[in-house]
Amino acid sequence: MREQLTEEKVFKDPVHDYVYVQDQTIWDLINTKEFQRLRRIRQLGTTYLTFHGAEHSRFSHSLGVYEITRRIISQFERNGYPDWPLEERLVSLCAALLHDVGHGPFSHSLEEIFETDHEEWTCAILLGETEINTVLKRVSDDFPEMVSSVIKKTYPKPIVVSLISSQMDADRMDYLLRDAYFTGVNYGTFDLERILRVLRPYKGQIVVKESGMHAVEHYLMSRYQMYWQIYFHPVTRSSEIILRQIFRRAQQLNSQGYRFRWMTNSLQQLLNNTLSLDDYLKLDEALAQTAFSEWSEEPDELLSDLCRRFINRYLYKYVTIENPDESLLSEVAAALLSIGLNPDYHMEIDYPFDLPYDVYRPEQKNGEKRGKAPILLLDSEDEISEISVKSDIVRSITGLRQGQYHLYYPEEPLLQNKDKLSEEMKKLFKLN
Ligand code: NI
Repeated sequence: MREQLTEEKVFKDPVHDYVYVQDQTIWDLINTKEFQRLRRIRQLGTTYLTFHGAEHSRFSHSLGVYEITRRIISQFERNGYPDWPLEERLVSLCAALLHDVGHGPFSHSLEEIFETDHEEWTCAILLGETEINTVLKRVSDDFPEMVSSVIKKTYPKPIVVSLISSQMDADRMDYLLRDAYFTGVNYGTFDLERILRVLRPYKGQIVVKESGMHAVEHYLMSRYQMYWQIYFHPVTRSSEIILRQIFRRAQQLNSQGYRFRWMTNSLQQLLNNTLSLDDYLKLDEALAQTAFSEWSEEPDELLSDLCRRFINRYLYKYVTIENPDESLLSEVAAALLSIGLNPDYHMEIDYPFDLPYDVYRPEQKNGEKRGKAPILLLDSEDEISEISVKSDIVRSITGLRQGQYHLYYPEEPLLQNKDKLSEEMKKLFKLN
């Protein structure tokens, strides 16, 4: 099952210095067209409009997750830990490399509008008629299924799943370091080498040697900072709102039988909600950007205005609102209507929040995503404890759910119609 390349291949990487490929299967997967497509999808979606360095792709992130996983496994193998199942190496590496292969352009925004799911697309790519499926099948007939079940987290050995999906997995460690590097902020850095050295396979899970606790604290604080400084940046959120409105408007026009001046087959299928796998694989950010540029000249004023805003970075402004209750929101909607705006598209309340670290609560309910496995420390007596029990710093951010409401709106029509607005509205929108 382990077919080695006669000569090791390397990719130069700004975060990990080098990414090493030793297996024929990994090399062949990287060279499939479905994997190469990830070069045309940015890792951070619209963040480049806020942090101009954030142009890195899902291709580089996927290689990075693979490389971190490879280093973890090779540390386990070098030390001969009996709790690491040696035969799981290749399936783990393939799952790490392919975990994001189903991402589309501006994934998270598109998923909300079209109710698609990148994880489902990932599995469709692994199991469907694709080059990736052909390469995986060369390992064994059931190998595509095995890799996809790691990604779906149903693989029978949880230790394999936890490598790429837990509260300190290869995925998170790569994106924090990579996003920090490309945005140019320093909050996201932490001592990856140190963390990799203190990971241990232990009774079917991955734990951290207690002496590595401070490196883990640093990692969790970095994550906390990155969420607030980068991922939830209000300007980035504004560009995401515009992007969602573009697709919402296009979808609405399409359902009303509107004839677009410019359209491609795959975009048409996206709007119709009838995407085949082949159509889906044709969607990338180059196509989306072309669509925005073409649609900025559509006769529908709402669509063309939204597209021009996105392309020219003429984003919505925002104000912070303490308590966005129904009566306030309907007053705002009425005020926008009175000056000819469409509250359906011209106002949006946003409330980003994140749990920097969460103790595992298996009974989570109401569609809330099941918490990911907690970080466990292993002490010299071979006792396991959950990290927030031992770390004051981690305890202080555990379960912390903080956030602020922001109201987004286009500023210039409000400025132009300032005189028609009530004093209360002028105060809310800071127009005085
Ligand atoms: Ni990822």
